[in-house]
Amino acid sequence: MSPDSPPPKRLRRLARLIGLLVAATLVVAVGAAWWSSLRPDVYSAMAMGVADPGGGPVVVGPTGGHGHGPDAASAVDVTTLIADPGRAADVRVELVARAERVTLPDGEQVDAFTLNGTTPGPAIRARQGELVEVVLRNESVPDGTTLHWHGVDVPAAMDGVAGVTQDAVPPGGAFTYRFVAEDAGSYWYHAHQVSHAQVLGGLFGALVIEPGEPVEHDIDAVALFHTYPGTSRTIDGTSGDIAVDAPAGTLARVRVVNTDSAPTVVWVTGAAFRLLSIDGTDVHGPTEVTDRKVAVTAGGRVDLEVRVPAEGARVQAPGVSLALGPGRSAADAPVGTAPAEVLDPLGYGSAAPLGFDPAQPDRAFAYDIGRLPGFLNGRPGVWWTINGRMGGDVPAYHVAEGDVVTMRITNGSGEVHPMHLHGHHVVVLSRDGAPATGSPWWVDSLDVGHGETFEVAFVADNPGIWMDHCHTLPHAVEGLMTHVMYEGVTTPFMLGSGSGNEPE
Ligand code: C2O
Ligand code: CU
Repeated sequence: MSPDSPPPKRLRRLARLIGLLVAATLVVAVGAAWWSSLRPDVYSAMAMGVADPGGGPVVVGPTGGHGHGPDAASAVDVTTLIADPGRAADVRVELVARAERVTLPDGEQVDAFTLNGTTPGPAIRARQGELVEVVLRNESVPDGTTLHWHGVDVPAAMDGVAGVTQDAVPPGGAFTYRFVAEDAGSYWYHAHQVSHAQVLGGLFGALVIEPGEPVEHDIDAVALFHTYPGTSRTIDGTSGDIAVDAPAGTLARVRVVNTDSAPTVVWVTGAAFRLLSIDGTDVHGPTEVTDRKVAVTAGGRVDLEVRVPAEGARVQAPGVSLALGPGRSAADAPVGTAPAEVLDPLGYGSAAPLGFDPAQPDRAFAYDIGRLPGFLNGRPGVWWTINGRMGGDVPAYHVAEGDVVTMRITNGSGEVHPMHLHGHHVVVLSRDGAPATGSPWWVDSLDVGHGETFEVAFVADNPGIWMDHCHTLPHAVEGLMTHVMYEGVTTPFMLGSGSGNEPE
């Protein structure tokens, strides 16, 4: 041993010291990550997320902070973004929300939520152009509740997001929603307070906006799918199958609404069909289809048109069906298995102008979905990420009214995510680089599978603060949620454990 090499004892001590230092550094790093993930007891949606201007100017304050924040003169309080208060309602509905024990169609009793004593709540129908007014009274939903009009581009104050556009309505309270039914189509409404539990437990219903002109369908039926906790799937609140009496030759429009948190498929047995509309927007030039199934995103809708044959036909999905046929033959309508091939909206129907040019967008965003270990508001776990960030560090997409916006959505998270932007419809430009060639494919709920890339575009034409989240509702709880925020729009409402508002 040379005289200047340290004795083995000192070496061991050094190694121990280094080990301790590494461990201490790790503890400090993990502690810092935990600490920085903690959110205040109450905080504003405006302070959530990191401003992402998508290549345009940073416009939204106060989080943007750099000169363009709304000053007192230009700030718009979200509560002022409403329908014409002077206009009388054309359709008026009162909905009383309760937490109660419900007997499901298969006889099972569950603790659920009802609207006017039923789940699903009453189907609301209006004509295009009518002003719809819905008074929500919360009789006994302990956490408070709200109603969100999924797929309807309502004025922002009517969006029903607890902590962003209103406070959750407490037991004994009420809130009045008013909006003009501008776009005909199939929609649904649901609670947006503790929504992962309240929607699952029954606080939802169908919303149909019929076209203003005389309708060309003899039969217009809703087929709303829902799976209550611990039971088999239901259709319009009934388990198994329902039948609609339809003479041979009648033209039927069946509005399929998927209220579950997972995608599903539908198909037609016994007749050809046309896919008339997706997420409330008519398909341009829909052609007749046989031997295809249609995917329905969580939260999504598809309208199928069927010419009823004498032997009847059946709109089917796993576990449920709606039979169409003359007299009692409806129940005898043929039953079939799902076709292997999926109808791909990317190439279905015929091309038509979008009404705007997405080639030179004012802002181009990335919404890259991933999954990483970390802390979400202090809770350790493996959480969903947006652009590699989680919780309060996700991007907040900043836009100004009139902007043409593109968004590239990718998914490397290992699971499918039905992405839902409030207040807007987005049009699919391409999937995995393949451009859309059929009818403009407008959606409000879009399944983005693992490994897929979608380019979508929209016009920022509805000022507000709009949630942009995964409609597998537990995933929103797990962090797959952010906002599209308009220049100058502010909210007085608060999120956080001390706020009473918990939109996810
Ligand atoms: Cu259907 Cu943010 O919801
Ligand atoms: Cu998801």
